[in-house]
Amino acid sequence: MTDSLYKNLNAYINNSRAEFEAKLETLVNIPSISMDPERKGDIQRCADTAVEFLKGIGAKAEAIPTKGNPVVVGEIITDPKNPTVSIYNHMDVQPADASEWNKAPFTFDKVGDRYEGRGTTDDKGPGLTALFAVKYAMDHGVPINVKFIWELEEEIGSPNFESFVKANKNRLKTDSVLVSDTIWIARGKPAVPYGLRGLQAITLTLETHAKDIHSGLVGGAARNPIGELCDVVAKCYDANTGKVKIKGFYDDVRKATKAEIGSFVNSGFTSKGFKKAHEIKSLRPNLKSEGDVLQAIMSLPTFELHGIVGGYSGPGVKTIVPHKAEAKISMRLVPNQSPAKILKLVKDFIKQINPDVKVNAEHALEPFLGEFGGPYADAARTAMKFAFGKDPAFTREGGSIGAVVTMQNHLKCPISFLGLSLPEHGYHAKNENYDWGQTSGGIKMFVKYFEEIARL
Ligand code: BES
Ligand code: MN
Ligand code: MN
Repeated sequence: MTDSLYKNLNAYINNSRAEFEAKLETLVNIPSISMDPERKGDIQRCADTAVEFLKGIGAKAEAIPTKGNPVVVGEIITDPKNPTVSIYNHMDVQPADASEWNKAPFTFDKVGDRYEGRGTTDDKGPGLTALFAVKYAMDHGVPINVKFIWELEEEIGSPNFESFVKANKNRLKTDSVLVSDTIWIARGKPAVPYGLRGLQAITLTLETHAKDIHSGLVGGAARNPIGELCDVVAKCYDANTGKVKIKGFYDDVRKATKAEIGSFVNSGFTSKGFKKAHEIKSLRPNLKSEGDVLQAIMSLPTFELHGIVGGYSGPGVKTIVPHKAEAKISMRLVPNQSPAKILKLVKDFIKQINPDVKVNAEHALEPFLGEFGGPYADAARTAMKFAFGKDPAFTREGGSIGAVVTMQNHLKCPISFLGLSLPEHGYHAKNENYDWGQTSGGIKMFVKYFEEIARL
């Protein structure tokens, strides 16, 4: 099959470019922001469009409602005896602050080979790349069945995904899952991750009086909730090194082995390139080597302060004593930490320091550790090398994809990550983008992967 399978592939990829761009434009121009309750209509419009795109390549497809946003599913069954792969992507996106961007975030733009707009790389572009590869594989008789799972609540921690999977267990039956929502370490050097960090998000709230008061009247006597939250946060972690000071926090961390760290370092990572891609001025002073930086982002947990809300934040200084404050925090967790256990540790710790602070649990996601080897990892390696000319590095992602652990628990099958995003694509950042190089290579990569796993 190999020769005839690949004979038309380059021509197919080139001939598909205009259609790929038109479809990406359609999706990016729909602001499917799952975090924003006012975008329910856009979420539905995105789901309906996605269903049309799936039907367009001959899949049976529909948007299945949940208590929250729908999940779009599709399938092409070539023969029940063939192996089935289920491809996971998400079609919801992060919000975007238009004032930070160089362009309108929810208007697709094409600048040479670059595609700009919120969701281009996370994760509409990679999702469409897989769709175009499936069409080619189906038209050329690759003997696999394909199912699609396109979520619309990934960016809010997949709160309804587990009930969706439980309710649709039969139709989701599969031999393997392919996730395309991850990132390489550097352009030109493919990465195949085998782990994800988990997450426990919390908000801390403190209200010490009923209204903001003139500090000339009560200053010196009244408590200051913003200051007290800062004190609590400072006792939870060392802001210079990031080291968490809560007793027991690191107890369950599964240390990365020498071999794993070696593999991280082999990914093409340089601290200089990392800083450039993310526009970072300097890194934490305790990170002495590239291995230290990689462990910090891949295999160690974090404590991160995302925002403090409260008081006066307009121009100049307004002399009030604020009456309430909120701190938004998350902890990235690694195998084998448990979000529930960490939450309890943090709650107990904060209660001791300042019993008036309320600790509210937000999303919780379990960390994920997959297979480093085995036939699917081999297929991923072969496919990446075939398409991009280099052996991939096996890495762990510092981010989280809530649906992955759910699929592992309920679908009970191998899960591979064949992502296409790059650091400079700007996940969640201003000026998010994706590009034709990753698309065209990506189509090749997926076709090869399908051929490889069709044999398993
Ligand atoms: N695609 C990302 C996950 C990711 C991030 C993979 C970084 C590799 C590197 C995903 O869309 C995402 O942003 N997940 C969120 C989930 C959260 C909002 C519950 C995350 O990791 O913050
Ligand atoms: Mn994503
Ligand atoms: Mn994301």
